[in-house]
Amino acid sequence: MFNNRDMAQFPTEYSVGPVRIAPATVLAPMAGVTDTVFRRLIRGQGGCGLMMTEFTSSHGVVNSKGARRPTFAMRYLAFEEQERPISAQLFGSDPDVMAEAARVCEGLGFDIVDINFGCPVNKVVKCNGGSGLLRDLPLVETILTKVRQAIAIPLTCKFRAGWNDKELVFQEMAKLAEDCGLQAVALHPRTREQGYSGKADWARIAGAKAAVRIPVIGNGDILTPEDAVRMVEETNCDAVMIGRAASSNPWIFAQIQEYLATGSYRIPHDRERYELMRHYYTLLVERGEPDAIGKMKQFATYFTHGIRNGSKLRVEIYQTKDTAEILDRVDAFFSQELEAVPA
Ligand SMILES: Cc1cc2nc3c(=O)[nH]c(=O)nc-3n(C[C@H](O)[C@H](O)[C@H](O)COP(=O)(O)O)c2cc1C
Repeated sequence: MFNNRDMAQFPTEYSVGPVRIAPATVLAPMAGVTDTVFRRLIRGQGGCGLMMTEFTSSHGVVNSKGARRPTFAMRYLAFEEQERPISAQLFGSDPDVMAEAARVCEGLGFDIVDINFGCPVNKVVKCNGGSGLLRDLPLVETILTKVRQAIAIPLTCKFRAGWNDKELVFQEMAKLAEDCGLQAVALHPRTREQGYSGKADWARIAGAKAAVRIPVIGNGDILTPEDAVRMVEETNCDAVMIGRAASSNPWIFAQIQEYLATGSYRIPHDRERYELMRHYYTLLVERGEPDAIGKMKQFATYFTHGIRNGSKLRVEIYQTKDTAEILDRVDAFFSQELEAVPA
């Protein structure tokens, strides 16, 4: 469990160069999940200090220049003022292309640029991007140096612990980032070979923290506010970053703040889940999301997590081919369920 001493240890804020992040919590970048609509949803619940875009191809960004229609890359980089402070995450392995893409992000008004050295996906690793670069630290250094020189706004990077347990480079990566003038690093301490299996070894976050003076953001396997407090206690990290838990529990950041303030936190009622789901779906339709139906299906899985008869609603949503009809089904399902289980 926790005691007041542990709670007091949790940082209230941290700084990435001149950018103040308060509270000291970060929504992890998640491709296919953390688009502008989802980020606004998280912002609306409160408690999240920093938003990050989904990872975006540096080549895609550079090739978007002069394009007549919005490209995929530029859609990934779309954001609204309410999402600030916000960091644009880029991936790639060509230092000049990365530098040029970072300049584009600065021009778009991002507060921070982040470089991804953690992605384990084969498509990215094969082009030497993401976690593939963890095996080529001289190239990492060239990328960091060139990107740092290209922009005036803060630069950070996010990485895994190494390629495998025999090739751990998290301390070298943290030091390299600091030496190249980066203002913070985030570590997901699994290795590339580990994928998402096993546990995130938080001792590695403590190891990275001990190696540098810039802020270290800890990430991996935080499922509850208690986990967030425990991670700070065990690693001394400057902020916590949460990914998967936020997709099924967008309240987790607000719960952390409540927990820090009072020692307990509220579990949202099904009515709030309904309102959140409806709000998210409505925002998707308003945005003209090209794959709104696909996203509705994907998020039905996250948002009906733990809801009585949730599988029934999921099946109904999966079978429906029209956004308005999906909204009708959500309304009908919850009006029945909420009647059956009053507040
Ligand atoms: C669906 C999904 C997409 C992800 N996309 C990215 C990404 O675009 N960039 C990145 O740095 N990490 C990405 N990650 C990794 C997360 O940012 C995070 O490091 C990882 O999920 C561990 O944190 P968690 O245990 O809180 O989920 C992704 C993870 C998931 C599950």
